[in-house]
Amino acid sequence: MDDKKRVLSGIQPTGIFTIGNYFGAIKNWVSMQEKYSCNYMIADMHSITVKQDPNILKKNVLSSLALSLACGIDINKSNIFIQSHISEHAELCWVLSSFSQFGELSRMTQFKDKSENNKENINAALFTYPVLQTADILLYNADLVPVGADQKQHIELSRNIAIRFNGIYGDVFTIPEPFMNIGQAKIMSLSDPSKKMSKSDKNQNGFIGILEEKDSIIKKVKKSVTDSEGIVYFGAEKDGINNLIDIYSCIIGKTREDIKQEFEGKGYGDFKLKVGEVLADYLEPIRIKYNILIADIGYLEECYKKGGLNARDIASKTLKKVYDKIGFIDK
Ligand code: TYM
Repeated sequence: MDDKKRVLSGIQPTGIFTIGNYFGAIKNWVSMQEKYSCNYMIADMHSITVKQDPNILKKNVLSSLALSLACGIDINKSNIFIQSHISEHAELCWVLSSFSQFGELSRMTQFKDKSENNKENINAALFTYPVLQTADILLYNADLVPVGADQKQHIELSRNIAIRFNGIYGDVFTIPEPFMNIGQAKIMSLSDPSKKMSKSDKNQNGFIGILEEKDSIIKKVKKSVTDSEGIVYFGAEKDGINNLIDIYSCIIGKTREDIKQEFEGKGYGDFKLKVGEVLADYLEPIRIKYNILIADIGYLEECYKKGGLNARDIASKTLKKVYDKIGFIDK
């Protein structure tokens, strides 16, 4: 093993990524490739905790892969793979379930939210979802897990499970840490800036997909909910404007203070137009690249097979070590 820090992260194939997924996680996935040993996965096993149409799921897995590549994941620098191709994820999940407590899983806010919105299908996997996520992370001995703020509680749970397991069996797992950027870790909904932006939002104006056309992006930013003060600065009770300032800052690399100065004496109309325009221009090359990649299924297959082969190599070694530690006899 080289001495680079190891990275693992995943995204559910449940639709086109939003700019929340992009600025909160994928942008870091891309930049981390230069420095670390990175493993990224399309979390298809996680996605079935909510009902999926099989044909749509197949399409979404491939489009999520193509989107990740279009955003800049390079198969010569990172392993990108499909979670269900590596059976070790399910196997380690089962082992770790015996080291995860009912009480701690009950406290997961995502479980509470998802079961609230899914009353007709509160299945067992929705509850044990964070244990599978822990298996994902621990299989690759990840030091760092690039995620948005909504995943922080899950990573803390993963740390606790790893520490508990190591406490019994010795130094088996690396203790992971979340990796997040201030101002990008939680991109808020454009229609209700007190809620995070989500691709499953029923209100189409709440989110911007990374493949959206310029007109649609500008229209959504213009329509976004803001306060009535009319002065552009990052402050209290200004969730909508704060969100747009953070999005703008992610793209042009200016600080919140610089942005306040740039728009001094100007109103929200000018600011929103500028944010919409720079965002659309920023996303355009991703859309062009995606359209080329999604038309080449052969190449996508090559990518996930290559990534899967490398991932299995790492995951199988970890699982073997775990099986040995807990007392399972070798095959
Ligand atoms: P998922 O598919 O919901 O989201 C993928 C990534 O995007 C981030 N994200 C956001 N960041 C900022 N602002 C937002 N509005 C926003 N919306 C989403 C998420 O935090 C996430 O990093 N359980 C995970 C997938 C997963 C995983 C893993 C992640 C499975 N196994 C192991 C890390 C490690 C999920 O549902 O992400």
